[in-house]
Formats: sequence, C-alpha cells, structure tokens
Amino acid sequence: LDRLHGPDTLEDLSFAALRARAEDESRTLRDGYGRIVLGEGPEDAPLMIVGEQPGDEEDRQGRPFVGPAGQLFDRVAEGAGLDRRDAYVTNAVKQFRYRMKGKRRLHMPPNRTEIEHGRWWLETEIRLVTPRLILAMGATAAQALTGTREGLLKRRGQVEDTPYGPVFITVHPAWILRLRDAAEREAGEATLRADLSAVARLHA
Ligand code: URA
Repeated sequence: LDRLHGPDTLEDLSFAALRARAEDESRTLRDGYGRIVLGEGPEDAPLMIVGEQPGDEEDRQGRPFVGPAGQLFDRVAEGAGLDRRDAYVTNAVKQFRYRMKGKRRLHMPPNRTEIEHGRWWLETEIRLVTPRLILAMGATAAQALTGTREGLLKRRGQVEDTPYGPVFITVHPAWILRLRDAAEREAGEATLRADLSAVARLHA
C-alpha cells in the first residue's frame, strides 16, 4: 500500500506518531465534531473491523464501539465465535459528528468529504496493522474501502478484492438497532451473526 495520501503524511509510520497526531488534532475541534477516536486492539491483528464513525458514547470514552451499537456487536460476535479482542476495531471516519437538540448531541451521518478525510487515518491504520482480512460493517465502511456504498444488502456475506486487500462486507449493527419491529431486528441479528461466523472461519 504505497498510495497513502491525506492532509499530510506522518514523519514516522508508527502507532506512537499516529496517536500523537490524533491528540494534536483533537485539541482544536470545530463545532459539531468530536475528538479523533482511533481504533484499538492488537497492533498486528490478522483481522481489522471497520465501522462508520464514533457515536456519542465512543466520543466520551475515546474508544470505538462501546455504545449501544458496540454492545450489540459484542453480543452477536460472541454468538458467532468471534472475539473482538483478537481484532483491531476501528471506524472509517474518526470523529463523532453531531447537532445539538436541547442538551443532547444527535448523531449525523458522515458526508463524502468526511469519508475522504477519514481515509487518511484509516489507510494509516491499515498500513500499520497489515491485516489479512478487513471486515467492513455498513455502507460508510464499504464506501471507504471499496469505493461504493451501493447494494450493500446484495453484497454482504462475501469478500471483495480491493487495493487494501480482501474486504468482507456486512451490515452495520446500528442498522439493526433502527429496525422497527422485533422480528425484523431478530432477522437482522441473524444476518450479522451468519456473516461474523463466516469471518471467524475465514480468519481462523
Ligand atoms: N460506534 C462506533 O464506534 N462505530 C460505529 O460505526 C457505530 C458506533
């Protein structure tokens, strides 16, 4: 992967330099944006899991997938025999994006520019971790890693070849949380569980 681009490159390609950059950029934040939340997990993990962007809880804790979507992910992954502690877990976009409603910070999905900006961080993490397989959860991760967000439900459950290596596509846990009735949510969970089982087998 030598097509790394972005605001600029790091002086030294290391997690220490990346963390320092994240702290630095998090000191001056525009209204409506949270701090840079980097991924976490083994720095040489064979599997990288990529979500959309941090939510309110992730921004508060400075860790990916610790809010409601993360809890759902953890539960479904456990049922699928996939332990997130074996994977490097991160997001396509590194900052929570929100608008205020009273005292609440309401999540806003990332736009194209934000996905482009996030790519520098994501590519740097991929270069550092060099995973054998990347799991893209949801349309934003699919767009960042494959160049298109279209047709996710038809593409899920399969591996696509990308400049970043093989990328397995699945749905986003937050999508399941937004489904209206219990039967739909159960079917959504079954879909995610089936995909995570396939990933657990692929990377075993
Ligand atoms: N939490 C994250 O860290 N990423 C998501 O995509 C959703 C919730």
